[in-house]
Amino acid sequence: MRDLKLKSLQAGNCSLTLRFTVGLTGTKLGCAEGGCGACTVMASFTPGLKNINACLAPLCSLHHSAVTTVEGIGSVASKLHPVQERIARAHGSQCGFCTPGIVMSMYALLRNNPQPSLLDIEEAFQGEVLRSYQSKTFVCSPCWWQKETYMESGWPCTCSEACTKREYVECMKMYQKYFLLYNPSEFMPLDPTQEIIFPIELKKPLKQLCFQGERVLWIQPSSLTELLDFKTQYPEARLVVGNTEVGIEMKFKNLLYPVILAPAFIPELNTVQRTADGILFGAACTLTRLGMVLRDAVQELPTYQTEVFRAVLEQLRWFAGQQVRNAIGGNIVTASPISDLNPVFLAAGCKLTLASKGGKRVIEMDDSFFPGYRKTVLKPDEILLFIEIPFTKKGQYFSAFKQSQRREDDIATVTCAMNVAFEENTNSVRNLRLSYGGMAPTTVLAKETCKRLTGRKWSDELLQDACSLLAKEMTLDPSAPGGMVTYRRTLTISLFFKFYLIVQHKLAQDLNVEVRCGPFLFHSVFPCSTQLFQEVPPGQNKDDVVGRPIMHLSALKQATGEAVYCDDIPCYDNELHLALVTSTKAHAFIENIDTKEAMCVPGVVAFLTAKDIPGSNRTGPAVYDETVLAEDMVTCVGHIIAAIVADTQAHAQRAAKAVKITYKELKPVVTIQEAISCKSFYQPTRKIEQGNIEEGFKKADHILEGEMHIGGQEHFYLETNCTLAVPRGEDGEMEMFVSTQSTSKTQMLVAKALGVPANRIVCRVKRMGGGFGGKECRSTILSTVVAVAAQKLKKPVRCMLDRDEDMLVTGGRHPFLGRYKVGFMKTGRIVSLEVTYYSNAGNSADLSLSILERALFHMENCYNIPHIRGMGYMCKTNLPSNTAFRGFGGPQGMMVAESWMGDVALHCGLPVEQVRRLNMYKQGDRTPFTQRLEQFTIDRCWEECLSISQYNQRRKAIEQFNRQHRWKKRGIAVIPTKFGITLTSNLYSIQAGALVHVYIDGSVLLTHGGTEMGQGLHTKMVQVASKVLGIPCSKIHISETSTSTVPNTSPTAASASSDLNGMAIYDACQTLNQRLQPYKTKNPKGTWEDWVKAAYFDRVNLSANGFYKTPDMGYDFETNEGKPFNYFSYGVACSEVEVDCLTGDHKNLHTSIVMDVGNSLNPAIDIGQVEGAFMQGVGLFTLEELLYSPEGVLLTRGPGMYKIPAFGDIPTELNVSLLRDAPNEKAIFSSKAVGEPPLFLAASVFYAIKDAITAARAESGLRGPFRLDSPATPERIRNACEDSFTKLVRMTPLFIVPWAVQV
Ligand SMILES: Cc1cc2nc3c(=O)[nH]c(=O)nc-3n(C[C@H](O)[C@H](O)[C@H](O)COP(=O)(O)OP(=O)(O)OC[C@H]3O[C@@H](n4cnc5c(N)ncnc54)[C@H](O)[C@@H]3O)c2cc1C
Ligand code: FES
Repeated sequence: MRDLKLKSLQAGNCSLTLRFTVGLTGTKLGCAEGGCGACTVMASFTPGLKNINACLAPLCSLHHSAVTTVEGIGSVASKLHPVQERIARAHGSQCGFCTPGIVMSMYALLRNNPQPSLLDIEEAFQGEVLRSYQSKTFVCSPCWWQKETYMESGWPCTCSEACTKREYVECMKMYQKYFLLYNPSEFMPLDPTQEIIFPIELKKPLKQLCFQGERVLWIQPSSLTELLDFKTQYPEARLVVGNTEVGIEMKFKNLLYPVILAPAFIPELNTVQRTADGILFGAACTLTRLGMVLRDAVQELPTYQTEVFRAVLEQLRWFAGQQVRNAIGGNIVTASPISDLNPVFLAAGCKLTLASKGGKRVIEMDDSFFPGYRKTVLKPDEILLFIEIPFTKKGQYFSAFKQSQRREDDIATVTCAMNVAFEENTNSVRNLRLSYGGMAPTTVLAKETCKRLTGRKWSDELLQDACSLLAKEMTLDPSAPGGMVTYRRTLTISLFFKFYLIVQHKLAQDLNVEVRCGPFLFHSVFPCSTQLFQEVPPGQNKDDVVGRPIMHLSALKQATGEAVYCDDIPCYDNELHLALVTSTKAHAFIENIDTKEAMCVPGVVAFLTAKDIPGSNRTGPAVYDETVLAEDMVTCVGHIIAAIVADTQAHAQRAAKAVKITYKELKPVVTIQEAISCKSFYQPTRKIEQGNIEEGFKKADHILEGEMHIGGQEHFYLETNCTLAVPRGEDGEMEMFVSTQSTSKTQMLVAKALGVPANRIVCRVKRMGGGFGGKECRSTILSTVVAVAAQKLKKPVRCMLDRDEDMLVTGGRHPFLGRYKVGFMKTGRIVSLEVTYYSNAGNSADLSLSILERALFHMENCYNIPHIRGMGYMCKTNLPSNTAFRGFGGPQGMMVAESWMGDVALHCGLPVEQVRRLNMYKQGDRTPFTQRLEQFTIDRCWEECLSISQYNQRRKAIEQFNRQHRWKKRGIAVIPTKFGITLTSNLYSIQAGALVHVYIDGSVLLTHGGTEMGQGLHTKMVQVASKVLGIPCSKIHISETSTSTVPNTSPTAASASSDLNGMAIYDACQTLNQRLQPYKTKNPKGTWEDWVKAAYFDRVNLSANGFYKTPDMGYDFETNEGKPFNYFSYGVACSEVEVDCLTGDHKNLHTSIVMDVGNSLNPAIDIGQVEGAFMQGVGLFTLEELLYSPEGVLLTRGPGMYKIPAFGDIPTELNVSLLRDAPNEKAIFSSKAVGEPPLFLAASVFYAIKDAITAARAESGLRGPFRLDSPATPERIRNACEDSFTKLVRMTPLFIVPWAVQV
């Protein structure tokens, strides 16, 4: 922690100040909108402490507070904090970019609450987004963090008193299974002297403060009178407490508020007081405090009085992360139509006290409080002073519901509150108030419905009428912003039905057993997981670490913030910042670019266009069909047109937004359907064919046809694209620090644009905060633009994209449409298949051909189809170019396969698992591309998976559950995968190099062509070198990946980097071993250091390079001959889910995965990869939805709108087992690739959901195959669970322009 000299700093946000002014780079920037938690720090004020998002917290708001960053609590260099150590040693850090945020959230929780419960821990992590999911169950286990274990001993649960708690007992059971992955008894206890104490000098009385920034005057009044005076003086001024709304408006909506009033510390605004009618809260009270006070009240008061309080608590439970739970007043006055609290306050009729210099007035909150979108009735000189939340009375019932895409930390799709009061001792409605958010530009009351139901009896007739009335009153325009029109309308009715059932229950009226489940959320169950792997054989040398679960070598540094990522490199004195100017049109000619206003922004140095590129403006990873900077035409929204360079990032971004471009628009092609209609395809098309499909269809008993669309996916690496280019001043030399998976590709494309030979460009990568394929090709354009600027201005230039820019400019996983015709026998045996894939490639070819080819290579998944033909088309559209993404087309190919497999089983009325098994390959079978399946382990994976998941028992229990529950259904699915391993893009890329230096002191510097992005490649490579050289890992160091040490590297991709680089390292180390052998022979009792010294003095070369190319590779599509894959990785997963048929929500109850990774090089890292890939697949198939407008504008540009899986989406029970005794002779030390293959296993969750929907549809008499596109979002699930409610809102298809289209 350092003392922030506030006066010397410009008013800005806390994270930028920490990173660039103070140099504390442990605080990361992942989104700048409060949605990822990477920037979490702890702020301590005189009354207490709180975790905050540094990206939104204005620096001025932290005056007189102590800010603790991850560096402040411990470090590898000095002493680790137990929170840092435990998360790292339990393999809880992979790419590490989110780890400091997770550490700080846990740290702040423990400082506030030394005895956290499971719920407390889950809540603390709600504001943290993560792309690597291992260790959730460890990290979330209360016994790790309870005072006794964390402060006094290294190992949980040594004290029997604590063990009486159920959580402890459960934890202990779970821990028994983990001992092999790490040793908790080595954990350090807390050293209390490490804990930071609030600095006494910060305890100062409240006084008025003013900060004048470049554009904003910040005033912190010291009293209510001062505040009201200022509000009269500056009626346009905004009040800011947490800045979670105002900050977003200023950053993303380009709004400027020249005067800010900060009332957070004014006593009246922090009042909490019980009154005769309820509890009165000052408007600056935080939502966290609101929750605490209401929880106490619920404990103390009679139940009937606290109906509203419990509804508020329910809404808070599903509110954003704790960092965002700021002022109550902020939530109300923002007047967001999807506020979670305003519906409750409206339905409850809360009283608001408004104050101005002229006096106070009290109003009751109803829908007249919101006269329009984001408007309230507050006068310009008024502020909200208090809100009074009322007690409820006997005979009054109140509930609130929120439905969102993701249950945790998400904004609502529809949110509502319902309030009914009955005539004394009757079930006659005296008063009914239903309020909805998400159904109009403001929070609204369903007045007409309520009026018509008043006086009626609470009965099934009332329910029927209520549903019809709501269907009429709660309508939406078919093009309404937010889309999901049918779903939102269904929700208004379904949620009322839930309320109806709850009230019935409270009135003690009879309910059918099956419908009782309707209103309730899924049960919260203690999470558990097992992780099984084969230990190294007894007798393996203890220094031989291959096969042992050693920790990721950077994990500790990642947990302390000491690990250096690209943007953490300290700024050069003369460094400049770059911001991109991008197209707002999908397809257009550029008519004019006006930079007048932009060039007036302070600090602007240059505006660069294509004309400034000294070399070639043509670029692209496979074919040069793209521009570095657009010339006269743009072909997608986000197309990079120009760049602004300025003294700071803020100035560069402000100027970039001020550049005005006029366009002549052309009609864009956005969707696959549009591309098919106008035959907009890239060439070539691809085909794989085996047998004779026409003959096959003739033989078949039945033929079915179907279609499935699989949506795209955003990589959402936590670290966005970043480049720092440093010109070296002579001979055109340039040093590039880049977050990329492709050092050589970056080097070559930069050299091409600069017009210099590649030997002048050095590209260096220390580590990445995730890549997932997104930094294989798409990173090169940004790097090239930055290099052009650096060369022109002869100064270092840096650019790290903001999350919204990154999502806009770079493409993601290809959306796919699969059309199929399948012929099969009555038994379920499939005899013929014709499948056609269309991928949405976007505005350039990029790697789309290889991705399409991989989809075709995986079109039959694990099934032997005698007659098969697969065709593939790449659609040329006006979207940002889609690109590599973990799985590289394979998951899309297999997803369609499981769709026809399910259709066949449903049609035949057979269990789908039986049909899968019946059609499965056997050892020695050949694929449609004629590759023989050797060492085929699917059978073993399948049997083991059925056994560990207890499939048969589960299936029976599910059938029983479904019979007993009308509105909740469970489903199960077992899905196999076979994933081909090799880089398929080009034969020449299947090669790798390594360089190993041994220094005179015996230390070894290892370099290879692969990059580290959290997948543990460097750790595995050190293990390999350690084994071959016969020295401990501690003597080996990897500093970075650089084109100056290992040239002409292939991208770190296709899961093959351990295989390729491992063999190259093996080669180099063997060379060194041969050179050292004479000295070992001469001095057999000597040490490594002795041999190295002796060799050096004997003038032996102690530096060796290594090289490897995979033999016998190559496939020809024309002849269907050759071998595309070195080998296959196999796995099977079984998942069980529960679906809420009324809302479309689902809960992942259980997953068991059996994965064949050969002889694992490092089981901890491999299990992390299996869990990480699986969860990324869960995101792909059930959650992550990219939305585009019909004009091709990406609408989901940050964590607020685009949801990746959170902690709560991890299956409650998650078991991973690495298949035993399955050595793979094709890769280093008999291992197998692991990064991509497990991703597709998440399809088991999707098909379990489909299984549950099938059960729900059966209740409405619907049987047989039905289409379910991916992802299975709540909207799709609810719409598929057709029932009487969905019928009420069914719309006749009209010719409408929807808000978003399926691309
Ligand atoms: C990542 C993220 C997730 C979110 N999730 C949710 C969610 O799940 N549910 C939800 O409902 N909201 C959500 N929000 C919205 C928001 O954070 C909350 O509404 C929060 O309570 C606002 O408080 P604040 O102190 O940060 O507001 P600020 O940004 O400080 O202020 C918000 C507005 O209120 C005005 N204001 C504040 N206090 C007063 C006052 N006393 N008198 C007059 N005007 C006043 C300000 O001038 C400003 O216009 C989310 C926001 C973010 C960034
Ligand atoms: S960077 Fe602050 S929450 Fe994402």
